[in-house]
Formats: sequence, structure tokens, C-alpha cells
Amino acid sequence: MVFVTKDIVELLNGSNDEWLYQAADKAKRQTYGNKVFVRGIIENSNICDRNCLYCGVRKENKELKRYSLSEAEILECARGIRNQGIKSIVMQSGESQSHNDKKIAQTIAKIKTEIPDCDVTISFGEKSRDVFKMYKDNGADRCLLKVETLQDDVYEYAHSGYKLKDRIKSIEDLLDLGYQVGSGFIYGLPLYTQEKFAQDLLSLQKLGVHMYSTTPFIASKNTPFADLDCGEVNAVYRSNAIYRIMEPTVNIPVTSALASLDENSKAKGLRRGANVLMLSFTPESVRKDYSIYRGKNTVKTEELNALEALEEEVKKADMVPAYERGRSLYQYKGR
Ligand code: 5AD
Repeated sequence: MVFVTKDIVELLNGSNDEWLYQAADKAKRQTYGNKVFVRGIIENSNICDRNCLYCGVRKENKELKRYSLSEAEILECARGIRNQGIKSIVMQSGESQSHNDKKIAQTIAKIKTEIPDCDVTISFGEKSRDVFKMYKDNGADRCLLKVETLQDDVYEYAHSGYKLKDRIKSIEDLLDLGYQVGSGFIYGLPLYTQEKFAQDLLSLQKLGVHMYSTTPFIASKNTPFADLDCGEVNAVYRSNAIYRIMEPTVNIPVTSALASLDENSKAKGLRRGANVLMLSFTPESVRKDYSIYRGKNTVKTEELNALEALEEEVKKADMVPAYERGRSLYQYKGR
């Protein structure tokens, strides 16, 4: 379905929620049936060189104990994920030159040797094309690289010193290299009007990503944006639904950021176009230090029996958890 900016702004404002959510659910079920892909995430380091004004792991946040998991610890987490039947492993860290890409790529190669039936997604921020290639050659299948916004002014204000064009270049490199690529936005950043956000949905579609994810902005302590209002949760559900209708074959997760603002987010999000859930397998001892935003990694259900709780939510949405690699069915058509 083809939207123009004005249609999207109206939908984001809730002009036609009943139609929107039903159409998104239908589009999702036509592509992925009643399946929900389940992923396990390992937050392997919170060391970060950047100072993004919204982010709790920004370099200047001295309140945080910094950690980097060893290879043995990462392998242990990966085994833990596979032992639960999950075949999609996501590794995420802060964005830092101090991470040893070669070593981490070798760790990925080891994961893939030990667990050949899994897919690995990396989410380490921007890298050179050569480094992305090295990760791919060592077995990485997919990459998550949020742009957060595709508007220069919003981007530069929130990311002091960094340029949107470099981020876009990374996304293009990843697509050229044959990665399945995930990207998306933070709804509610300063200067980010609904009109700009609506334009960005259309621009992201042109870039041609395999996975779409938008989180509501969450004011995080020890950041310059600590006192701002959080992004509107309903607009995030609506944006997921809109993107599902625009590109029915992409993967769309219900993010943990949404879960920290809205208790029933999983079941709700799954009924509104999303088809992916992620579960943290980061070791308990460091989990609290991966505090990108307030409430991150303290969601109660994740402390109980996380997988059982997740399955309950999936059931509530009238769907079934699918323990497979969970690749996107979106076909990148090239530039
Ligand atoms: N609010 C919402 N999302 C955030 N992220 C980082 N900080 C925040 C915040 N304050 C998201 C970004 C990032 C991902 C790992 O977490 O989208 O890419």
C-alpha cells in the first residue's frame, strides 16, 4: 500500500486505529502466519566512545561500571540461548574503537561452528566496510544499526559530533555485503516532528531494510535528555503498523523499550503488526550496567521464567512462538 506523508501523519495521530491495526495484523499473518520469531540477545559490552545525548551508556556517564564479556562468557550465553531452543542470536555492544573486532569476529566463528543451525546478528554500531565484511566472512548473518532519525538536524542535535551520512553509508555497505539489515528510529527525540518522522518512514523504505524497529524515547538518568518527556507509546505502535502495511515482509520486533513504558506491550504489539520478540541472555552480574534507558533490563517478567512469560504473551496475541532462525522474507532489490 502506498502512503504519502500526510496520510502517515494522520495515522500517527490515531485517526483510524481500528483500520490500521487490523490491516497490519492481516498483512503480518499473510506473510508470517501466526508465527512469532524469538531471539536471544547478548549485550556483550557497555563500553562506548560516543556521547549520544539520549543514551544511558554514553561515554560521559561515569556512574556506570563498564564491562566487556570474555569469549568464554559469550560462548556460554550463546549455548544458553540454544539450550532454550532459540536459533537466532543477537550480539550488541556500545560503539567503541576499543572493541577488538578481529577477536569478536573469531568468537562469532566459534559460535557458528558449535551451533551451526543458528543465525547471528551483530549490533556494534558503525564499522568500516572492511570490518563489516570480516564479520560476515566469520559468520555474521544480519546487522542491526538504528539510524534513530533520517533528519540531519534531529540527528546532529542528538548525536553531537556525528554525521547522519556516515550512518547511512554503513547501512548501504551492509546491504551491499549481503547482510539482512535492521534499522529504525527513536520516536520523541527533540526536534523530531511527526511530519519529519512520517517522511523518515518513506525514506527508510527507499533504503530497503529487512527489519524495522522504532522505540519510544525514554528519558534516561545521567544524560543531557534526562528531564525530557518520553515519546508517545501509541504513536510507536502505530508506526509499526504503518510500516507493516508499507512493507509486509519485513521483520518488526516489539522492543524492550516499549515494554518498559507499557506493561502489555508484547501482546499488544504482536496484534498490531509486529512478529519478533527478543529475550536478554546477558549474564545477571552485568545486566544492570547495560542501562541504555531507564527501566531497561529490569522488566519483571524477564526476572521470573522469562521464556515461559514470553510464551504467555504470544498466546495472548493468538500466535505461536517459532524457534527458528527467523530470517526476514524481505528481498533487497539493490540500489
Ligand atoms: N530511549 C529509547 N531508545 C534508546 N536507545 C538508546 N537510548 C535510548 C533512549 N533513551 C535505543 C537506540 C539504540 C538501541 C540500542 O537503544 O535505538 O540504537
